[in-house]
Amino acid sequence: MSVGIDDIQIATGHHVLDMSLLAEARGIEPAKLSIGLGQLAMSVLAPDEDIVTMAAAAAAPIVERIDASRIRSVLVATESGVDQSKAAGVFVHRLLDLPSTTRVVELKQACYGGIAGVQLAADQVARRPDDLALVIATDVARYDLASAGEPTQGAGAVAMLVSANPRLVELDAVSGLHTFDVDDFWRPNDRTTALVDGHLSTSAYLDSLEGAWRDLVARGGRSLADVAHLLYHQPFTKMARKAHARLSDLLDGEVGALDEAALDVGAQLGNAYSASLPGALAGLLESGDRSGAGVGMFSYGSGSVGEWMTGVVRSDAGVHDAGVRRAIDGRVPIDVATYERLHAEHSASSEDRTLPRVTTGPFRMAGVEGGARKYERV
Ligand code: CAA
Repeated sequence: MSVGIDDIQIATGHHVLDMSLLAEARGIEPAKLSIGLGQLAMSVLAPDEDIVTMAAAAAAPIVERIDASRIRSVLVATESGVDQSKAAGVFVHRLLDLPSTTRVVELKQACYGGIAGVQLAADQVARRPDDLALVIATDVARYDLASAGEPTQGAGAVAMLVSANPRLVELDAVSGLHTFDVDDFWRPNDRTTALVDGHLSTSAYLDSLEGAWRDLVARGGRSLADVAHLLYHQPFTKMARKAHARLSDLLDGEVGALDEAALDVGAQLGNAYSASLPGALAGLLESGDRSGAGVGMFSYGSGSVGEWMTGVVRSDAGVHDAGVRRAIDGRVPIDVATYERLHAEHSASSEDRTLPRVTTGPFRMAGVEGGARKYERV
């Protein structure tokens, strides 16, 4: 019996800011952002959107296609949590009308949480093959205005259904892991934007990639030299190119392809933190028929945990519509003044308020009542 990803869907925010507008406003050479960082645009949330509305929008088409009573776990991975106690997945569970006979929990380890969720779900399904597990990675990347990290902001959610005998990607049981404690990127409880030591973070990412690869090799995992498609966590897409170059050095140049369609998802959405690597996988599966091809995926979560996860696209998977094109093309462009207003208005406050109706997505946050966040299906 194989275990892996049976379905995958992406969603993002209502707005998009073109990177050339940000470059002009900040007095930066546009090529530094488009080539130096590899970023073309960033998704920006409407005031009535957050990680919950994106997560529900990503998961809704998957849930509509299956017998939802088989879903036994909803694992939501995020580092943009909306509550210190209640799991964001409980809101999603209600918005999707999932059965009460479901385990719901939130996972956090920076951008790594989504792949942690997939691995936990795969272990569950291996024990109970009739179970389905819904894993949703959902995040909003926020840095201070005019900081070095600002052009790498973004937002997105990717929902993945994990099952036995999956229709899309069969995952290998062996993976490569690497954890070490480093202050490269973090967000203390009193901040809505991240703190980051940018250059330390890029070297920590590459050290983690190498450490996780060494573990993969030591455990007899799938050889990355034989894998056709390599995907990476892409906080900005130049980072994925640097990662691919490091892997190529480790493999003496015997390395598969860096997928341009996967990179484009990151270049257009910006950093979606835990959803970044799953978004790359969605881009790969939507952009062509990858049936039978090996896939290697490197996840990095600052702080830090890295994992190489490998697998193979099922031999009859065909082209999968993951909603990538609709998510990218469906956004409403904004100017820098609007983006700056939305950035300033972002609030983690529990003060009661009613939010303006802006998003055209299927779910929205209506406001806060009695300190509790209220969500609705549009
Ligand atoms: N034309 C083309 N390229 C140009 C250029 C121009 N006119 N001007 C500069 N460049 C190139 C530079 O040569 C450099 O390329 P290399 O990296 O290949 O040397 C690139 O543009 C970036 O230039 P800088 O290093 O000067 O950029 P910076 O210091 O202003 O910011 C950053 C870069 C540190 C990554 C910053 O964007 C940042 O802090 N980002 C957030 C942190 C981050 O994403 N870290 C990634 C690893 S951590 C992680 O993965 C977890 C996560 O999601 C956060």
